[in-house]
Amino acid sequence: MSNRARIAVFVSGGGSNLQSIIDNCADGTIPGEVVLVVSNKKKAFGLERAAKAGIDTLVHKRKKFPNGNAADEFLLFELKKRDVDLIALAGYLKMVAPKIIEEFRGRIVNIHPGILPEYGGKGMHGLNVHRAVIKAKATESGVTIHLVDEIYDHGEILAIEKVPVMPEDLPEELASRVLKVEHSLYPRVIKKLAEQLIKDRKQ
Ligand code: GAR
Repeated sequence: MSNRARIAVFVSGGGSNLQSIIDNCADGTIPGEVVLVVSNKKKAFGLERAAKAGIDTLVHKRKKFPNGNAADEFLLFELKKRDVDLIALAGYLKMVAPKIIEEFRGRIVNIHPGILPEYGGKGMHGLNVHRAVIKAKATESGVTIHLVDEIYDHGEILAIEKVPVMPEDLPEELASRVLKVEHSLYPRVIKKLAEQLIKDRKQ
């Protein structure tokens, strides 16, 4: 039996978090392997990163299917076909379908570029989060990693790391300070989850 977790990463954009997961799997920090990268956007740069690393990619657009159920069944089939153990959302801006959540309960994780629950909810993604933090004159922001459930930005919080907000910060400056922390925190949390999954398999 393999002692590496089989990870699917979902992206909508640049995929710098995807890259850090790929790199941490490659150097053995995460006992895992990225076996599939899914994107709702065909032009997401994350897909290029995946292809460069020789990882299977899938562009999954719900509206291309006759109905939502068919879309979910197809995605589920692609995940199961590759024996995916763990799904990591990395800048994925779509809700994960309830059917997928049900099947992978406790095994879908998301990274959020702000402190939850304060700076989460619909529309709170990417630069919108940093704009809200600056507007609130907060002195601290952070990175939150949480399990995914049916409610947006809601599942059990696994880790929070705080990041200072400077008085003159532009949203882009805060974003890059937060992103740096994301690249070290996400692999550490995924490493723990992967280790647990491998342990559970052996029991
Ligand atoms: C990251 O900052 C991630 O936390 C955020 O999108 C960015 C993706 O960057 N995710 C969300 O806002 C989800 N609500 P990346 O594509 O370079 O990894």
